[in-house]
Amino acid sequence: MPLLQDAITLRGLVCPNRIFMAPLTRQRAKAPGDIPGELQAEHYAQRAGFGAIITEATQISPEGKGYPNTPGIYSDEQIAGWRLVTDRVRAAGGRMFLQLWHVGRVSHVAHQPDGQPPVAPVAVRSKGFVVIRHPDGRRERVEASMPRALETAEMPRLIEDFGHAARCAKAAGFDGVEVHAANSYLINQFLSGSLNTRDDAWGGALENRMRLLMNVVDAAGEVFGYARVGVRLSPMGSVNDLPPAPDDEELMRRVAGELGARRLAYLHLFNHFWGKERWNGPFSEALCREMRARFDGPVVLNGYGTDVAAAQSDLDCGLGDAVAFGKLAISNPDLPARLARGLPLAPWDDATFYGDDARGYNDYPSAT
Ligand SMILES: Cc1cc2nc3c(=O)[nH]c(=O)nc-3n(C[C@H](O)[C@H](O)[C@H](O)COP(=O)(O)O)c2cc1C
Repeated sequence: MPLLQDAITLRGLVCPNRIFMAPLTRQRAKAPGDIPGELQAEHYAQRAGFGAIITEATQISPEGKGYPNTPGIYSDEQIAGWRLVTDRVRAAGGRMFLQLWHVGRVSHVAHQPDGQPPVAPVAVRSKGFVVIRHPDGRRERVEASMPRALETAEMPRLIEDFGHAARCAKAAGFDGVEVHAANSYLINQFLSGSLNTRDDAWGGALENRMRLLMNVVDAAGEVFGYARVGVRLSPMGSVNDLPPAPDDEELMRRVAGELGARRLAYLHLFNHFWGKERWNGPFSEALCREMRARFDGPVVLNGYGTDVAAAQSDLDCGLGDAVAFGKLAISNPDLPARLARGLPLAPWDDATFYGDDARGYNDYPSAT
């Protein structure tokens, strides 16, 4: 069975170890324009030793935004900013996937073009919270705004927005993209049997609910080739007020099969159920194994906190092929080297998860 330190090949892309950097929103892009730059280039370059880096969630369009200072991937300025990042990471020997993001109804009119309502599969408000930023710079958690349902005629435009973003990601020098279909954002909202009660071809029946994800994956695949497209799911997760539905398990099995048929770079599974609950909760070990069998390609697991031993044990048990670490990647820029040498791991400070500058971002020292 592979060790976390062993190399892995994702459909031809060689990664020197199986310790990936999980996508981490840090809200430090430059405003106006949501543009990444030197700050992000330094941050990701410090982490070039990870088997692969998955960037913070990056909105595909102004409409896809739900938080302050998250970067986008649709304008020339953003492409130029991301190019600084990919150049630095590549020079340091790393590989990067950009996470393509549309928040759907998990947004606020303050983030939307012309103060319009956010878009969603149906006009049902999330009881979850979002963050807005006041002119004086203060951040505030507020209720999500009432969304409007996307028109059937708008769906090709939405898919084209993803295609455009994938082309921008390619122009910015990324090795591939990860489609964010987890954590109750737009694609997850369309997948949901509890929320997506649309009566057109994009909702209701299970295959209709899968249509947006598959179209987005196809749009990204046209740009990068399927071998450079990953997908992130959070099976059975219900954050941001997305209640469970009776066919959630069947949905996950079907999605894994459809994605597997496309021979994607990887399937990334964020297990929302921590600690002892990890494989005994709604996302069961049996479901994980079935998804892995149906996908029949590289599976990246996530959701271990500081429990590196559990991550290795899950690779030993054949539940996945690689592990993405989130919070540990924040505070340990050289995590793969530390694990290889058995060095102690640094704790993270959640007070600086989101912020404006290098503090709590680029000042965690390397131990190697
Ligand atoms: C500060 C922070 C930002 C996050 N941003 C994202 C994100 O942009 N996209 C995403 O899919 N998950 C995001 N997550 C979830 C992480 O990728 C990961 O799933 C979670 O932290 C659990 O992994 P861990 O136990 O290794 O930290 C975020 C988590 C944290 C703590």
